[in-house]
Amino acid sequence: MSDMDHQHGNEHQHHHRGPWGHIIRGMWRSPLGLLGVTLTTVSATLMVIGIIVEVFGLTHNPYVPLLAFLVLPGGFITGLVLIPVAAYLRRRQWQRFGIAKDHLQINLSDHRHRKSLIWFIVLTVIFFSLLTVIGYFGYEFSDSAYFCGKVCHNVMDPEYTVYQRSPHAKIVCIECHIGPGAQWFVRAKISGLRQVLAVATNSYSRPIPAPVEHLRPARDTCEHCHWPEKFSGKKVKSFVHFTNDNQTEPEIVDIALHIGGHNRVTGTFEGIHWHVSKDVKVQYLATDEKRLEIAKVKVSRPDGSKDEFVKAGVEIPATVDQSEDGEKSGWRTMDCIDCHNRPTHTYDLPEERVDFGLISKKLNPEIIGIREDSLAVLTAEYNTREEAEAQMTNRLIELQTNRQGIDYVKRFDADLRKAGAYLLETYLGNVWPEMGIKWGTYGSHLGHQRAEEGWGCWRCHDEEHANAEGKTISQSCDLCHDEPQ
Ligand code: HEC
Ligand code: HEC
Ligand code: HEC
Ligand code: HEC
Ligand code: HEC
Repeated sequence: MSDMDHQHGNEHQHHHRGPWGHIIRGMWRSPLGLLGVTLTTVSATLMVIGIIVEVFGLTHNPYVPLLAFLVLPGGFITGLVLIPVAAYLRRRQWQRFGIAKDHLQINLSDHRHRKSLIWFIVLTVIFFSLLTVIGYFGYEFSDSAYFCGKVCHNVMDPEYTVYQRSPHAKIVCIECHIGPGAQWFVRAKISGLRQVLAVATNSYSRPIPAPVEHLRPARDTCEHCHWPEKFSGKKVKSFVHFTNDNQTEPEIVDIALHIGGHNRVTGTFEGIHWHVSKDVKVQYLATDEKRLEIAKVKVSRPDGSKDEFVKAGVEIPATVDQSEDGEKSGWRTMDCIDCHNRPTHTYDLPEERVDFGLISKKLNPEIIGIREDSLAVLTAEYNTREEAEAQMTNRLIELQTNRQGIDYVKRFDADLRKAGAYLLETYLGNVWPEMGIKWGTYGSHLGHQRAEEGWGCWRCHDEEHANAEGKTISQSCDLCHDEPQ
């Protein structure tokens, strides 16, 4: 700004004013200058208020930081740029009318000039401090889970909701989506801009496609906190299932999984995390964007041996690039995400939630047909979440009335309303019709419960991918499971 002042200030001969007197007056006299001054003053004032509100936590409205740290600084800077531009244009105008104006001269022995200079320095310091504080807050804020999850409210609502109930709920989005390092930071901010544009123009896909094509390799992000050397032993998990015929006695399945790790006896790395251990490389070629159908699998082992397993009869579309390397290669090196594709955006299945309702007595198992009816209302089509909210409990009561009659329903009225509330909560935690997210849209690869739909370990472990000698990728239960099985 000071250059401009030098060029256009000329009030030195009118000693009753400071050296930039005519600039200041010039500003006020042109509409552009007026706009600049107003924009700067209003933005700066609101920004200061925004900082105060944030620092003292006066509100949790996401639009306050969005405005204060991202929008208003834009207004502030635009205003500041407009002021010298207005002064410059005004000077051109003067020249056109032949009004001679001298260049700025600063005479430090003149106390008015000194005063103006001090003011100028003070304002510049305040201005840069404000921008630094704003920059810092803006940076922090644009990295927060709150920003990612809430500001694009409707779009990210599903991801944010399911994330909050996951084991990673306290980990900010960027830990997995950006990770450390400047290169990925810049990439993320650029693709962030593109996404903001897509939201603004309403041109994003629903559902947001998974797998995320340009997700940073998991080895760079997940291994920041988890690393394969740390894995060991087995993990026991319990699964509880009811059936429509037996709502009261669950079938409880305990399984133990070979998490894997370093075997001290044999000195090798084995078990489930073998795929991501040092010196092992598993690559695969999928025929579809969802990576559900896998045509070929290549392995390099620590002892240097290599193998290729091919599934007979799978047609590889011409669009899939089969070359070994290069940007467009269809070959993908297996990492954490090929099994843990849902480490935090974890959606439930309706049966799981209904069975959980029965065991936790949120659904009273005494009510005849409650399992079947609950599944029916949960998986019914609703056009919007509001529609589900309005209809779910009534639908359950209606189904029960048809089944058992009005007296029965009256007897269990309180239980049925409680059941309706539980089912609605479950629905709202998993289904977003407006975003194209229905039950099961985002499947998990961790296991084989949905193997027939193409999800999970059995994409490769299907006894159908065979090498040249006819050896297949095994589906033998004890490869992954241990006692209790
Ligand atoms: C623990 C790591 C982790 C955290 C934390 C995380 N994500 Fe993700 N996210 C992933 C992975 C992995 C995928 C890719 C899933 C796939 O490729 O199938 C993903 C996918 C997505 C997708 C694509 C849709 C989908 O469900 O696959 C969106 C959108 C998304 N994340 C947004 C967010 C937002 C917003 C936050 C913070 C509120 C967040 N993520 C936090 C790991 C994470
Ligand atoms: C910033 C650190 C951090 C990052 C990055 C991170 N995690 Fe985690 N992860 C955690 C913490 C903390 C837990 C919870 C541990 C606990 O509950 O004992 C956890 C838990 C887990 C669990 C166990 C969940 C369970 O049900 O017990 C898995 C699996 C997991 N993370 C996978 C991943 C994957 C895959 C990625 C990369 C996409 C990832 N994590 C990235 C910190 C992280
Ligand atoms: C071949 C599939 C596969 C790959 C690849 C894989 N995991 Fe796992 N991981 C599993 C399975 C299966 C489990 C146990 C199932 C469960 O917890 O539900 C597991 C469990 C875990 C756990 C919890 C361990 C415990 O003791 O509770 C963490 C943490 C984890 N994985 C992180 C990772 C990270 C980080 C990577 C990438 C370096 C990775 N995994 C790669 C399949 C895999
Ligand atoms: C992209 C293909 C692919 C997927 C998906 C996959 N695996 Fe594998 N897995 C392999 C290959 C290839 C081998 C090695 C086969 C061989 O050498 O005979 C292997 C080997 C294993 C082994 C034996 C490791 C050892 O100790 O030698 C275990 C255990 C295993 N997988 C578990 C799993 C689990 C659990 C999942 C799902 C969560 C899974 N795999 C998903 C390709 C895959
Ligand atoms: C390639 C590894 C692998 C093989 C082979 C495998 N499983 Fe599993 N299985 C898993 C994993 C991983 C899970 C855990 C899924 C989860 O955490 O949700 C699982 C879960 C299960 C469950 C509990 C699921 C539920 O909903 O009750 C049962 C039962 C089961 N397996 C049985 C078997 C049987 C029987 C075989 C042999 C035909 C077998 N598995 C082969 C990896 C494997």
